[in-house]
Amino acid sequence: MSVADVLTLLALALALTHFSFPLLYYLYLRSRWLNKPWDIKKDPSYRPRVTIIVPTYNEADLIESKLNNIFEQDYPKDLMSIIVVDSASTDGTVEIVERWRDKHPDARLVIIREDIRRGKAYALNNALKHVDGEIIVITDADSRWASKDVLSKAVSWLSDPTVGAVTCVKRPEEKGRLDIEAGYRDFYNIVRIGESKKWSTPIFHGKLAAYKKDLLIEIGGFPLDIGSDDSYVATLIAIKGFRAIAVDNAICRELVPKKGYHMWRTRRAQHLVQHFIKILGLLSKASREFKPVLVAEAWLHLFNPWLLLAAATILFYKALMGSLTALAMLVAGVVLLILKPYRTWVVTQVYLVIASVRNLWTKEIAWEKQEKS
Ligand code: GDD
Ligand code: MN
Repeated sequence: MSVADVLTLLALALALTHFSFPLLYYLYLRSRWLNKPWDIKKDPSYRPRVTIIVPTYNEADLIESKLNNIFEQDYPKDLMSIIVVDSASTDGTVEIVERWRDKHPDARLVIIREDIRRGKAYALNNALKHVDGEIIVITDADSRWASKDVLSKAVSWLSDPTVGAVTCVKRPEEKGRLDIEAGYRDFYNIVRIGESKKWSTPIFHGKLAAYKKDLLIEIGGFPLDIGSDDSYVATLIAIKGFRAIAVDNAICRELVPKKGYHMWRTRRAQHLVQHFIKILGLLSKASREFKPVLVAEAWLHLFNPWLLLAAATILFYKALMGSLTALAMLVAGVVLLILKPYRTWVVTQVYLVIASVRNLWTKEIAWEKQEKS
């Protein structure tokens, strides 16, 4: 076999590995875990005090409806308090929160104002000192809970002593009522729930991340050196031996930026990459159930994207050198982009690669705000 053939074969092998690993992982979780019972005992009388923390930086457009969305929850009002922790917003966010508080005398709302912006995790740690609840729920100002029972549903899982943290699943795009049911069980949600049924998922959402306060304090609060505060503390809790789960009866949604979409995707990928790099150092401490999940997700975020880049680079080089086979493979890879799941996947890989490189000079701990719609 000539060197040229070896290179093309190598590209093919890299691409096959790149695509088959996530596919096999998904199929494994779906067939082996998705329909398994949770092995979690809920206590219907469990009604802990809950403190909801909303971190804000220039959220004047969204904060009022966010507070309404929280306050509409059916959780008993006397067991629920809210902390808005604001880091030097310049758009009047805090004044809006103050006015909302005046209009809702029955809401137990504390406002913490930081004079200097040091990032979301720093602000969350600041808020932690003022928490009076047993359960802490973090929720981003640009997220919404899809129904009035999301908080009660999320909290109910924590009645089992083995559960330490709970997150929501993303709501699908709404095309019709039937689609909602089918849609939210998409690739990512199935992976999150499959991992959660196995033991725990290492990826949490800022839309709703609920933690037992004692555990959060024990692990030292939120990390200041990486951006993925939610996923990182959830993973530490799971490594400690408690479950950190995504549940499909708590559905959230998040607004997508009008401008700066690419920066938003890149930054979030950067945060996840930072998270998995930090977690690599803790792999040996993870339990037998959790370790394979961590290894798979670390692989998917840190290494797997590069296989696709390597395959594409080799094929591109070969095509330039006149190989028609390489050209055909490259063209096929591009034409397939008309298929949405494939396109979504490939685009995510591009963001992960860019994110890993960008992490070399900036960690985006205090990021630029994007306008949402
Ligand atoms: N107090 C405070 N201080 N809040 C902040 C700061 C800050 O410096 N920076 C951002 N926030 C608030 C925002 O106002 C919003 O309520 C929330 O933190 C999330 O900020 P977004 O700007 O909406 O971030 P994102 O949606 O791109 O990223 C989210 O997801 C990432 C990964 O999924 C955040 O939750 C990230 O922390 C997370 O890494
Ligand atoms: Mn957001």
